[in-house]
Amino acid sequence: MSETTGWVRAAAIDDIAPGSALGVTVGDLNLAIYHLEDGRVFCTDNVCTHAFALLTDGWMEGTTIECPLHAGQFDVCTGKGLGAPIEEDLKPFAVKVEDGQVFVEIT
Ligand code: FES
Repeated sequence: MSETTGWVRAAAIDDIAPGSALGVTVGDLNLAIYHLEDGRVFCTDNVCTHAFALLTDGWMEGTTIECPLHAGQFDVCTGKGLGAPIEEDLKPFAVKVEDGQVFVEIT
């Protein structure tokens, strides 16, 4: 259980090129921050719900990230699993960007 709660600075937006994802650790959470080509920013758990792999070690295209281990895919905007072998969605986190800094809401 993380002791970090509330809005927590997780990264600088300039550290995440548009169209890519960055893995960060906040408290004891492994999070993935996604910077879409259109400028929108999203965050989910970074650990695949199928087995143990970090999604940011996989491949992101558009709003989809593909796990590097068994090619399971998730919608980065919602955390929703997009078919086999994924049976459980990723937990999404609220994100805001202020003064070039990405903040994630930990509840
Ligand atoms: S660990 Fe991600 S698809 Fe299997």
